[in-house]
Amino acid sequence: MADSAAVRLSSENISKPLCAIDVGTDHAKLPMYLVSECGFSHVTATDINEGPCKTARSNISLSGAFFKDRIDVIKTDGLCGLDTICPDRIIIAGMGGELIVGILSAAEFVRKEKEKIKFVLQPQSKEQILRRYLYENGYRILDEKRCLDAGKYYCVISAVYDGIKREQDLLTLYFGEQGILHPDALFDAVFDKKYKILQNNIKMRALRESEETRDAEQEEKELFLQMSEYKKRREQQ
Ligand SMILES: C[S@@+](CC[C@H](N)C(=O)[O-])C[C@H]1O[C@@H](n2cnc3c(N)ncnc32)[C@H](O)[C@@H]1O
Repeated sequence: MADSAAVRLSSENISKPLCAIDVGTDHAKLPMYLVSECGFSHVTATDINEGPCKTARSNISLSGAFFKDRIDVIKTDGLCGLDTICPDRIIIAGMGGELIVGILSAAEFVRKEKEKIKFVLQPQSKEQILRRYLYENGYRILDEKRCLDAGKYYCVISAVYDGIKREQDLLTLYFGEQGILHPDALFDAVFDKKYKILQNNIKMRALRESEETRDAEQEEKELFLQMSEYKKRREQQ
């Protein structure tokens, strides 16, 4: 999963050595790639669990002094206790959208200075929840890349904090502004899959309507409507 975040980071035009925090590093594959291939001078790799921290430390040690001098592994929850590090990049990859939101919202220090840190976020699920949080809490999405990894679609979102709160429609929250404006084959595959799921859900719900499903149904209906209008606009182009 971190592969797509790595691809995203390696395509950057880096003019000075950068420092990064990789949250939920697991095996430390991404930090090692950043220091060896992308010109990063230092990466703090964190993980909440002891097992991944041990694996990360062992992988780094086995790879030699070059990596040991440039990567620290810290066991912590999200970005807790990392206030003194001044990262240029914060990478959170391979976690659900809700968990990424929890990690970002708990870390006040990442919003201290506007436009200082670039966030590279790769939600494994619920990307609409992450986008909603970013838009409504003063983050500006710079770009998004979609990729296919082991048969699953992922998106990598780059963002900065600029303090400006924004509102977006459901279509943008679910599919991302960039994809909507510049759809490619991956976007179409994700869009068509979701369209069919919604179509089916709406049909099934009509058969067994209940109080609890009403809110979810309302959001699905609204999203389906926005997706249908978008499809129509594209067919007319
Ligand atoms: C699926 S792995 C992703 C690893 C790597 N980032 C990637 O994309 O390949 C998720 C990792 O996040 C760690 N994790 C889960 N919750 C976390 C949290 N709150 N803070 C830090 N790490 C966390 C897990 O222990 C696990 O190692």
